[in-house]
Amino acid sequence: MQTREKWRSGLGFVLAAAGSAVGLGNLWGFAYRSSQGGGLAFLLLYILVVLVVCLPVLVGEMVLGRSTASSPFLAPVQAAGESWKPLGWLFAISSCGILSFYAVIMGWTADTFFHSLFIGLPVDMVEASDFFGRISSGNSVFVGQIISLVLTGSVVAAGVRGGIERLTRWAMPLLFVLLLILAIWATTLSGSWEGYTSFLFKWDPSQLLDKTTIRNAFTQAFFSLSLGIGIMVAYSSYLDKNNKLPKEALGVASFDTGVGLLAGMITFPIVMSFGLKDVISESTVGALFIALPTGFANLGLIGRLLAAVFFGLAFLAAITSSISLLEVPVSSMIDRLGWTRRKAVWISTFFVFLLGVPSAISLNFLGNMDAVFNVFLILGGFLISILMGWFIPSKYDQDLASSNSDQGVRRYLKFMIRWVSPPVIAFGLIVSVIDLVQGWFA
Ligand code: PHE
Repeated sequence: MQTREKWRSGLGFVLAAAGSAVGLGNLWGFAYRSSQGGGLAFLLLYILVVLVVCLPVLVGEMVLGRSTASSPFLAPVQAAGESWKPLGWLFAISSCGILSFYAVIMGWTADTFFHSLFIGLPVDMVEASDFFGRISSGNSVFVGQIISLVLTGSVVAAGVRGGIERLTRWAMPLLFVLLLILAIWATTLSGSWEGYTSFLFKWDPSQLLDKTTIRNAFTQAFFSLSLGIGIMVAYSSYLDKNNKLPKEALGVASFDTGVGLLAGMITFPIVMSFGLKDVISESTVGALFIALPTGFANLGLIGRLLAAVFFGLAFLAAITSSISLLEVPVSSMIDRLGWTRRKAVWISTFFVFLLGVPSAISLNFLGNMDAVFNVFLILGGFLISILMGWFIPSKYDQDLASSNSDQGVRRYLKFMIRWVSPPVIAFGLIVSVIDLVQGWFA
C-alpha cells in the first residue's frame, strides 16, 4: 500500500477544484445555453440551483472524500456499506464517458489555437462553416484528441502535487486575469451593449417555466461545477482535516460562476458586433468554434492575436478539467487494484481514447454523449444528496464540526442536503430526462 498523497496547501486544493470546475463548459456551454432563449431567466435559475442545491452537494462530495480518504470508487462503500457500490461505478463510468468526448473538443480547441497563430481564421460565414468542418472531421481530430489525452495523462501521472497542483496553481490565476482583460476589451466593441441585452440579460419571465431552460440550468450547474461525478471526492481525499469545506466550496462555486459570466461578456459582444447572432444558438459548438473565430478574424491581425490568447486559455481551462476527470478512474484503480499511478494513468487513458473514437468521427454521436452524460451527473448529485442527507447525516455534520465550521453554516447545510437538495434535484432530473427523450423523438 502506498501512502496517500496530500495537497501542498489548502489554496492548492481550492485552485485544483476550481480548475476542474472552470473549463469548456464555462467558455462554451454557458454562452450557448443562455442564448437558447433563456437569457436572464436561465441565469437566475442557474444561480438558484447552484446556491440552493449544488453547494450542499459539493460540500457533501468533499466530506465523502475527506472522511473516507478513499477514491471515488470505494468511498461510498466505505462510508455507507456495500449497497452503495453502484455509486462508485456511476462515478467511474461518468468520468470516462465525459472525458472521452471532452478530449475530442479539446482537440478542436487546440486546432483553432493553431489556426489563429499560423494559418488564419475564417472571415465570413461561408468560410466559417468550412473552417468548422475542417477542424471537426478527418485525421486532424484524432491528432488533437491524442495530443489532449497524452498531455492530460502526463500531468496526472506526475501526481497530485507534482502534476495537478503544480499546473493549476499558476494556470487558474492567469486564466482569470486574462479573461478579465478580454472582457474589458470586449466592452469597447460596437455591439457590446446589444450583446449583453439580447442574450445574457434578455428578460422573458415565461422562460422560468420552460422545460428546456430548466434542464439547461440544471445541466449547466452540475457540468460546470464538475458535480455528481466523484471528482470532488477524489480531490478531497488528499486533504487534511483543517480545511473549512463550506468556505472552500463557496469559493469554487463563485469562481466558476464568475468565469462563466466573464466568458459571456466576451462572447456576446463579439457575436453582436459582427452579425453572428444566429450562429450562436444553432449548435452547441457554434458559439465557440464558428462565431468566435469569425468575430476575431474581422479585427485583422490584432484579432488573430486575441483569438490565440482566447483559445490558448480555453485549452488551459480544458486541461485543468480533463486531468480531474482522469483522476477519478486513476485514483480508483490505484486504490482498488493496487496499481502504480503510472500504470493506472496509461491504461485508463488508452481506454478513454477508444471510447472517444465514435465521438471523434461523428458530431451527432458526440452531441448524444454530452446530453446523456449530463443527465448522469444530475443522477450522481441526487444519489450523493440521499447518501449524505439520509444515510450518513451524522458523518456529514461531524466532519464539518471537526474542522470548526461555523455552527449556523453546518445547520443550514444539514437541513438543505436532507430536505431541499433531494426533491429539487429529483425534479431537475425528471424534467431533464423528459426533455432529452422528447428531443430524440421530435
Ligand atoms: N466542469 C468542466 C467544465 O466546465 C467539465 C467537467 C465536467 C469536468 C464534469 C469534470 C467533470 O468544462
